[in-house]
Amino acid sequence: MQAYNNLSLGAAYFWMLMIIITTSCSLFESTNGAAPAYSINVARYGARSDGKSEASKAFMKAWSTACHSGRPAVTIYVPRGLYMLKNVVFTGPCRSRIVFQIDGTLLAPSNYWELGSSGFWILFHRVNRMSIHGGTIDARAHSFWACRKSPGNNCPPGARSIAFSWCSNIVVSGLTSTNSQMKHLTFDHCNNVLVRKVKIRAPSSSPNTDGIHIQSSSAVTIRGANIMTGDDCISVGAGSRNLWMERVTCGPGHGISIGSLGDYANEEGVQNVTVTSSTFTKTQNGVRIKSWARPSNGYATDIVFQNLIMNNVYNPIIIDQKYCPGNQGCPHQSSSVKISSVTYKNIVGTSATAVAMNLYCSKNNPCRGIKLQDIKLTYHTRSPTSVCVNARGTSSGVVIPKSCLGRNY
Ligand SMILES: *[C@@H]1O[C@H](CO)[C@@H](O)[C@H](O)[C@H]1NC(C)=O
Repeated sequence: MQAYNNLSLGAAYFWMLMIIITTSCSLFESTNGAAPAYSINVARYGARSDGKSEASKAFMKAWSTACHSGRPAVTIYVPRGLYMLKNVVFTGPCRSRIVFQIDGTLLAPSNYWELGSSGFWILFHRVNRMSIHGGTIDARAHSFWACRKSPGNNCPPGARSIAFSWCSNIVVSGLTSTNSQMKHLTFDHCNNVLVRKVKIRAPSSSPNTDGIHIQSSSAVTIRGANIMTGDDCISVGAGSRNLWMERVTCGPGHGISIGSLGDYANEEGVQNVTVTSSTFTKTQNGVRIKSWARPSNGYATDIVFQNLIMNNVYNPIIIDQKYCPGNQGCPHQSSSVKISSVTYKNIVGTSATAVAMNLYCSKNNPCRGIKLQDIKLTYHTRSPTSVCVNARGTSSGVVIPKSCLGRNY
């Protein structure tokens, strides 16, 4: 009896110990499993890091494996080195969350004709739940720009470097994009995007090399972007809403632009866009809203530009509703894009021209609800001036140049 008791006590201890061990093991496993434990290396799929062999097929195979994996998360790892990719399309939706961890540099083909006429270089299509960490992508577009700049040349239409279309829940973090043929990083029909700590570089003379372009997308946050390029640092197209941009340093470049709006007679509006805590240096514009001077049902509303520093910027604050480049297809017309509820708050620094604030709105559709608050811009040692055309709103605090807004009614 005594022996039996001891035995059962021993067994009870044994089982308790087992339970403790198993629970702590599974706890360990599950915390470990929350990090993307499963990683595949593009080298294993045949990608060579010599910068010459074409690595597109290897990347596609790695993508396909990761995308169809049943695991909750898969990392596609790109080790240090140079990888030459032609046009690649990474298509979703995927069963797994994918992390692209890039330590290497992706190069476009040295012959720009090889990117063809699809309009993109690296495209993510219908992908949700993906993040890209690190990496440099270099489109090497110098000879392409030279082609476009010499008149009479036959050049391909040009490619965006990294494009997302119909994507959601995307993070792009620590990516560097250099020398794109056209725009660097674009989002079209995307939702819930975070771009952080990106670096964008192209010469100020490179044509149409916008840094980041957002179109028909919502809930896009940009937090930390260092952009030196030949066109807009960031451009926002029709159909975009709930955008937040902070800690953007821009210049050289054309500034941050909402528009061109009114490209089409029938287009969606832009709503709820904030640009904050950003610096513009020697840019063509600071913050701009522009629309074609022609009929359209587009609009821009609930826009906030605040806490901005302008260093020698040509048009620090500008609304341009008479946009009609080359007087083609729009002369003598008036924009019907409606601009309303635009706040400019705490904007300081220097203007490179006498007109630091130019609010040129449409005759048919005056801008309404413009708010100016705490603006201090200088032009050399003088006060710059402001121009208002069909612009209505209010001002408060110190506003230099002086507000020229008409009454808000
Ligand atoms: C405006 O956009 C911001 C940033 O995406 C978002 O947090 C906020 O909820 C939006 N406001 C409205 C009224 O939708």
